[in-house]
Amino acid sequence: MKAIAVREGDRTPTVIETERPEPEPEAGEALVRTLRVGVDGTDHEVIGGGHGGFPEGEDHLVLGHEAVGVVEDPNGTSLERGAVVVPTVRRPPNGPNEYFERGEPDMAPEGQYHERGIVGAHGFMAEYFTSPAECLVPIPDALAELGFLVEPISISEKAFELARASRSSFRWTPESALVLGNGSLGLLTLAMLREGEGYDRLYCLGRRDRPDPTIDLIEALGATYVDSRKTPVDAVPEVHEAVDFVYEATGYPKHAFQSVHALAPNGVAALLGVPGSWEFEVDGGAFHEEFVLHNKAMIGSVNSGFRHFEAATETLATLPSWFLDDLITGVYGLDEFERAFAEGDTIIKTAVQFADYEER
Ligand code: NAP
Ligand code: BGC
Ligand code: ZN
Repeated sequence: MKAIAVREGDRTPTVIETERPEPEPEAGEALVRTLRVGVDGTDHEVIGGGHGGFPEGEDHLVLGHEAVGVVEDPNGTSLERGAVVVPTVRRPPNGPNEYFERGEPDMAPEGQYHERGIVGAHGFMAEYFTSPAECLVPIPDALAELGFLVEPISISEKAFELARASRSSFRWTPESALVLGNGSLGLLTLAMLREGEGYDRLYCLGRRDRPDPTIDLIEALGATYVDSRKTPVDAVPEVHEAVDFVYEATGYPKHAFQSVHALAPNGVAALLGVPGSWEFEVDGGAFHEEFVLHNKAMIGSVNSGFRHFEAATETLATLPSWFLDDLITGVYGLDEFERAFAEGDTIIKTAVQFADYEER
């Protein structure tokens, strides 16, 4: 079986071939034939050595956490052969722990989870993978080719849930939102905010010149492009308006501190980026005061649980096909997998294709 992995010391992925043609499912696990696996900023961080880690005692990590596949062998589980499924990402490291037992693996602290394709466990970029049946989310057959977007959408389903929960003690009717970042997560989230969340006015921040395909997408979604080089996040209220919701997907740590100044009273900011360490000066007094005097909130959110995958599946079906066509800039077979990991201004969302979907 072929898989795409990053080896210790390497900074680029390679195709490896395992001895067995396919992995053998253990009791309670199903065998899944992989269709497609998406690539995001986290994969680039893992490949670059800035995030994640190898499985214990191994010198390589099979990549990929945004997968969709078809059940090849249910192996006595309740899944049907031929069902289209999306795997969740986290697994317990040494047998179940309380977070997994209560169905909240996304809330487990570091050390109490592995993330497939990211930290401590091999990912899904292989011709086949096995997974406990309860970590496989069935999706409609019609979404088989787009199913690799369920995982990233689920990330925002969870973040929206946490943000709403933080505003649930009073009447919060957000009208304006600012998405920080025009990468695949930022753009998917912008489309989600436009389609399902009822916002009247949307903004999306980048640092690019026109012409640029992400700026075209932002504007096609009816949102206003904000160039962070001209309008820093904390200047958004002067130039545009103070917003009810900020969603950070840049991984640029100054944005965490600037966001509070971009919020309208009673607003909430959700932080999603995973930056490394960076020291800089901040007006801590103004930061602190802004939260208190204007009832603002900030939440951090990582990973997502089964119900967020289910919600994401419904959301995916509502996203306009013109948007998805423009967002997905390339799907590549194993023979040209490197193209799925290329970076540049004309590349937005890519995936590796391991098999064609054949209808049941
Ligand atoms: P990405 O493709 O790297 O996107 C980041 C985008 O932010 C890029 O388009 C980049 O612009 C833009 N950006 C960075 N700094 C900026 C600045 N100062 N001003 C304006 N724009 C700026 O990554 P992604 O896949 O969309 O993910 C976004 C972040 O979320 C990453 O840090 C990733 O690790 C994280 N993430 C977290 C979770 C979670 O569970 N919390 C899940 C998925 C991803 P250029 O392209 O022009 O450089
Ligand atoms: C993945 C999440 C994961 C996070 C941190 C994201 O790209 O989509 O599932 O929890 O990275 O590793
Ligand atoms: Zn991801």
